[in-house]
Amino acid sequence: MADERIVDTAADLGDDAVERSLRPHRLAEYIGQTAVKNQLAVYIKAAKKREEALDHVLLYGPPGLGKTTLALVIAAELDVHIRTTSGPAIEKPGDLVALLNELQPGDVLFIDEIHRLPKIVEEMLYSAMEDFYIDIVVGQGPTAHPVHFPLPPFTLIGATTRAGMLSAPLRDRFGITEHMAYYRDTELQQIVLRSADIFAMQLPADSALEIARRSRGTPRIANRLLRRIRDFADVAEQAVSVAIVDHALDQLQVDQQGLDQIDRKMLMMMIRDYQGGPVGLSTIAANIGEETATIEEMYEPYLLQIGFLKRTPRGRMVTPAGFAHLEQPYPIQ
Ligand code: ADE
Repeated sequence: MADERIVDTAADLGDDAVERSLRPHRLAEYIGQTAVKNQLAVYIKAAKKREEALDHVLLYGPPGLGKTTLALVIAAELDVHIRTTSGPAIEKPGDLVALLNELQPGDVLFIDEIHRLPKIVEEMLYSAMEDFYIDIVVGQGPTAHPVHFPLPPFTLIGATTRAGMLSAPLRDRFGITEHMAYYRDTELQQIVLRSADIFAMQLPADSALEIARRSRGTPRIANRLLRRIRDFADVAEQAVSVAIVDHALDQLQVDQQGLDQIDRKMLMMMIRDYQGGPVGLSTIAANIGEETATIEEMYEPYLLQIGFLKRTPRGRMVTPAGFAHLEQPYPIQ
């Protein structure tokens, strides 16, 4: 239990049936991301009115904020089919051709982690996105010949943790780019209450708010914590009071700010071994035994957001607030 990661990718822990059962299906049910929702509602309505495919959409932001869910919602609102895949899953041009070949006019192709597409596949997407065709080479050696392959108009929805990781030619082909931000506590509270309802679980509003406050602005984490708390409550056979939430989260080693062991390990190592920094990303990664990408995409964004960490040209530094949270004296400069 102590090793269980609260912050993780869906793929690592299995995007299981329970998680899927909590997903909203329509924009009206989707809580938070108000600006994104309002804009998309207009674009969707306009595309439907014109009977055209929606422009390609790029969704970017930290993991667990509902990019996949939003892609499914967009397809439902457009009343079209959606095929979902991910950048690393499309290994060769043939894989992309197979996916594109199944699309009907107006359908959505969702590519998660689109920054991880192989270059050769990415280049095929350019003409597919811009003019709805691909040129493929059929046969080998002297019999090899190009084939022009027209596609139905479709909508590509790409998701990535950072828009900056995309090449400019790919980024430029998205007509709609939306940034997903961390959720407010009150939004996460609503999400947790909605999930509790789906679980037929009695959850008082103050307990839901406590879960929300410790979920790093991230619905996936809030729902995961809710499921663990449900286990504690079921065993104790009590209503889920704030005290139970508190006890369960302490057991899970999720602290008052929602930081887990790895966040704390990273900050503590920077404080103890480097007086708070600056420390280079690869040094941090080597010291705590994590990949640099994991730190950059999953841990650092929230620590930056809450002001416990800052980035400088010479590396990352723990801020006075970060020292205070870990109850460490801030070094005299
Ligand atoms: N479950 C996960 N994310 C959600 C969201 N944004 N709205 C409603 N339910 C959710």
